[in-house]
This record gives sequence, structure tokens and C-alpha cells, in this order.
Amino acid sequence: MVCVPQLEVESRNKKRVFSGVQPSGSLHIGNYLGAIGRFALFQEGYDCFYSVVDLHAITVPQDPAELRRRTVATAALFIAAGLDPEKACIFVQSDNPNHAELAWVLQCIATFGELGRMTQFKDKARGKKSVTAGLFTYPVLMAADILLYDTDVVPVGEDQKQHVELTRDLAERFNKRFGVTFKVPEPLIPAQGGRIMSLTDPLRKMSKSDEDPDSRIEVLDSPEEIARKFKKAVTDSGREIVYDPEKKPAVSNLMTIYSLFSGKSLEEVRDAYEGKGYGVFKSGLAELVAEKLRPVRERYSELMSSGEIEKILKDGAERAYGISSSKMKEVKEKVGLCSRLSL
Ligand code: TYM
Repeated sequence: MVCVPQLEVESRNKKRVFSGVQPSGSLHIGNYLGAIGRFALFQEGYDCFYSVVDLHAITVPQDPAELRRRTVATAALFIAAGLDPEKACIFVQSDNPNHAELAWVLQCIATFGELGRMTQFKDKARGKKSVTAGLFTYPVLMAADILLYDTDVVPVGEDQKQHVELTRDLAERFNKRFGVTFKVPEPLIPAQGGRIMSLTDPLRKMSKSDEDPDSRIEVLDSPEEIARKFKKAVTDSGREIVYDPEKKPAVSNLMTIYSLFSGKSLEEVRDAYEGKGYGVFKSGLAELVAEKLRPVRERYSELMSSGEIEKILKDGAERAYGISSSKMKEVKEKVGLCSRLSL
């Protein structure tokens, strides 16, 4: 007999937020500015669920011990970046079996054609000899994550927009076929910072899976590493610090990073570095980013050595399971699946 914790009713007058991050590599400042650094912004006014999506990570080969380590490390980074486990539910996706179960049901209404149009799938599958079925159906698992919690808002970077749109389509399709069951969620993509670009190729997004580690600043990089990577970052022709993503994509990306970490507008950044050249700008940027990430790095180390994450994740899993189980039960009844065990 599995114990289902009491559904908490008090927070349901708040809108609900859900987002997830894969434990598939070290998190970089794109993940930070596009997602995890913003997670805490919602924890006062919204009922928040943030998940380390390890089932998504295994769509590509993973070393089991390393996956387990990164899963806990990713949760620690959520908290180090400002999330309060008393206010937001933080949990690991695979701890809640409802995610995989709903994903299967949704796979049976998703079409091969629409999944084949997902640009992330096309990017990840390009040039690969063998691609798993899990990589293909990955966006449906993401839809399940979101729909299980009656989510209103999904804060993500720009690369996840198409997946949230698919989620909306699947929710509407299911509701039409089986009666209203799912809330149709909205993506929330920051106007600035939704797509931080690579330091070595400003026409590609900064990515955990880029083979060149110098293409990204990792949240846990030391100040020396940060300085080295920014120093090495490609720049455009000329020496002026101006924001022009078409003509000066590299400098514009660095200016966006500066603006987001400093809270200064792009015009203020331009004025502060007018006539100073790329070298001075890059060392100012490195100092700023290292300083802003310092408390995150410090809190992360404390959390990892204290062992408190395990308890936070256990409590989070119980709450996530309790809340999503009523949705899963409703889905099964509507689809005509019987439940003979009293779980
Ligand atoms: P993932 O793990 O690749 O990335 C985590 C978050 O970081 C954002 N992001 C970026 N933002 C700005 N610039 C970049 N260069 C950059 N790179 C990544 C991503 O948009 C994301 O918000 N499928 C998702 C995880 C997921 C999820 C969900 C998200 C699974 N289920 C449900 C929201 C809701 C992913 O792979 O993110």
C-alpha cells in the first residue's frame, strides 16, 4: 500500500508553475539566465514545481553513477540559485511514476508526423547512426510533466517553446476527445536571455552537449576559468561595444550576458565601455559574472557536503506524487483504463 499524502488545498488559489532541467551535464549560464536563475522569482506568488528530469536524460547514453551524482547536483543548484524548498516543490522526475505513465497515454494521441517536426529532435538526431525511440518521444514526456500538475506557466528558454506548444496541442486534443481534463499551459520565455549563444560560435546557442567546454561558462566554473573563457571568446570585427545581433553577434551576446548579470540596460553597458575596446570589456564581464556566481558556488558546496538534499528530494517526491496522482486517476478513468489495485 503506497501512502498518498493529503492534497494541499491551500495553495490552489495561486497559479501553478512547472519547469524541468536535465541532469545531463554541468549547467551553464544559458541555463541560469534562461531558466534556473529565474525559478526563484516565482516562488512567492506561484505554486511552484521544479523537477530534475532524469528520465529525459536517459534518452541518450549516460553513465549510471554519474547520472545519479548529477541528478543530486542539479537539485542542489536549484537551491543554490535561490529556490527555497519550503516554498517550491523540488523533486526528481523518476521518483514520481505518474510522469512515465501519463507520457505513455499521451504518446497514444501524439502523431509520428508532429514529433518528426520537432526541431530539437532533428538537431539531436542529425548525423547519428542510431537514434533511440525515447529521443523521438521526448517532447511527449515533457508534456506529461507539465500537464500532470494543472500548470499555468512554464518558464523556459527559447529552445523549449516548440515543446510547450506541442504540450498545448496535446492538452487540447485530449480534452476534446475525452472531456476537459488538462489545463492548457503558457510558455514564459524571457525577452532577454532566452537564448544565450556559444562563446566560440555566436550563431549557435550555448549548450551542455557542445564538445568544446570553452563554448560555455559553467555556473560552477572558478573565477580563473571564467576569465580565461571570456578572454578566449570570439569577437566581431572592429572594436566598438555596440549591440547589433546581425552585424556583431558575438559582442551582442556578451553584452546581453553583461546586461542580465548587472541589471544594467544595453545602452548603459555600451556607454560604460565606449571606446575601451574588447579586452577591457571582457575582463569587466568576467569579473562581474564571477562575482555574481560566487554565492551560488558557495551555497552549492555547502549543500553538497551537508547531505540535506536527499531529504528535500524525498519530501518533494511525496508531494509531487500526491498531487499528480489524482490527475493520473482521472486520465485513466476517462481513457477507459481500469485500476484494480488500491494504490
Ligand atoms: P535543458 O535541460 O536542456 O535546459 C534547461 C533550461 O535551460 C534553458 N536553456 C537556455 N536558455 C537560454 N540560453 C541557452 N543557451 C539555453 N540552453 C538551455 C532551456 O530552455 C531550459 O528552460 N526539455 C527540457 C527539460 C524539461 C522541461 C520539462 C522544461 C523536461 N520537462 C517541463 C519545462 C517543463 C530541457 O531539455 O531543458
